[in-house]
Amino acid sequence: MITRRSVLAGGAVLLTGGAIYASAAGQAAGPMVDTENRSTLRTPPLIDATETGEFRITAQSGTTRFFQGGTAETIGFNQAYLGPVVRIRKGQLRPIVENGLTWPVSAHWHGLLVPGEHDGGPQLPVRPGEVWAPDMEIVQEPCTAFFHTHIHGRTARDVYSGLAGVLHVADDRDRDRELPETYGVDDLTLLLQDRRFSQDGQLLYANSMMDIMHGMTGDTMVVNGQVGAVAAVPKAVVRLRLINGSNARIFSLFASDDRPMHLIATDGGYLAKPVALEKLRLGPGERAEILIDFSDGRSMSLMSDGDPNQGMGGMMGRARGLLDGITGGRRFEVLPLRVDDRLAAKVTRISDALGGQQPGPANVAISGMRRFSLDMGMGGGMMGRGGMGGGMMGGMAINEQPFDINTINERVRLGDAEKWVINTSMLAHPFHVHGVSFQVIRENGKDPRPENLGWKDTVVVDSETELLVQFTQPASEEAPFMYHCHILEHEDAGMMGQFTVS
Ligand code: C2O
Ligand code: CU
Ligand code: CU
Repeated sequence: MITRRSVLAGGAVLLTGGAIYASAAGQAAGPMVDTENRSTLRTPPLIDATETGEFRITAQSGTTRFFQGGTAETIGFNQAYLGPVVRIRKGQLRPIVENGLTWPVSAHWHGLLVPGEHDGGPQLPVRPGEVWAPDMEIVQEPCTAFFHTHIHGRTARDVYSGLAGVLHVADDRDRDRELPETYGVDDLTLLLQDRRFSQDGQLLYANSMMDIMHGMTGDTMVVNGQVGAVAAVPKAVVRLRLINGSNARIFSLFASDDRPMHLIATDGGYLAKPVALEKLRLGPGERAEILIDFSDGRSMSLMSDGDPNQGMGGMMGRARGLLDGITGGRRFEVLPLRVDDRLAAKVTRISDALGGQQPGPANVAISGMRRFSLDMGMGGGMMGRGGMGGGMMGGMAINEQPFDINTINERVRLGDAEKWVINTSMLAHPFHVHGVSFQVIRENGKDPRPENLGWKDTVVVDSETELLVQFTQPASEEAPFMYHCHILEHEDAGMMGQFTVS
């Protein structure tokens, strides 16, 4: 099925069974998985709210068996781990968010263009036993979005434990676009996460100083809450909606046999035309939709390069590698996709009639510029204060200001378009802005990477990235929008700010 030779080329180590890294003997970080009898990937339950505009999600706890012979305590929306895929469309939307847990949660609609009061950010907690029922208006074009809890200081831990799900903003025109649209058959939603497990199958959340500094990465791939599964696909063109739901891992995705991945949509919706990519970088919080052609009947695996923030590329990669046996440079298998002739083959060509629109900076009046530096506070003596904790936590900030829920950092005028210039001098950070769509106009002084050409709300910044941000949704002092690093440990530690739009 998978050509071992292609993935072993160049001395890379392929691990089957969902484990990301082959570690030295005796250092296996998680339980091993039977590679011969891999289960078929399940699709998340679909809630179709396109007719009524109504759906309910309840945060709850449960247990999840990621491996034979062990269970993990997890949380999810409507189920034990993760949530459903909710399909919505333009018009009225009335979600009911219920908190069945014993601590506050929220439901942030990551990627939806809705006002601050409906956005579900840290200012809008749903307390235990309570219900939040915003009455919203969806105005945006089709896209794949994400939802997750967003309580300041515990977003990372709670998302890690499972409080996240997926939204499809749909219209009924995908048939005209000649795109695969059969949910779970040729239109697959793949929530990609990496996790660590104990020998008895519990989810491990380490949260050590290193895990905060680099973000918490795992050694085991979990797709839609499953470890070691294989996706079945028809002998046809297949659409993959990829959501990076990891806390910190930046994927660089490619096909094991190097076939092209045709990018059709980014965070904010369709491109004008598909773009054939060999590699697709996808940071935490980013989404991408790709078409892959399986009409020749050949199976393949979705692979990834190692995380640029770990290993040699990371700030203290060597030290980390010695500490826990993880090194960052190795490629690994994200998900094998196996052609199954019994599945209906509907779409057999790569459509070029996507119809997305990106106006480009030349056609937009820019009313101002702001700069944001993503700070890790190394100058502040992080290593020198005898420890983990305090000194370092204080160092995570934007423009030297750590997040303060009582401070509005920026005020923007409704209807404006601004240039935002984002800088990092240490590590790559997925920068995310609530309630907006932006276009990436420059990256490190050059034209943007091809996967960043569409509408975005999250982008990996590895040095300097210029954005053209359009502010179409209002946000008040009471319910401002956030901008933050989507490495959730960085966000919780203070690499976040808030802004009003009025
Ligand atoms: Cu997905 Cu403020 O985040
Ligand atoms: Cu968001
Ligand atoms: Cu960061």
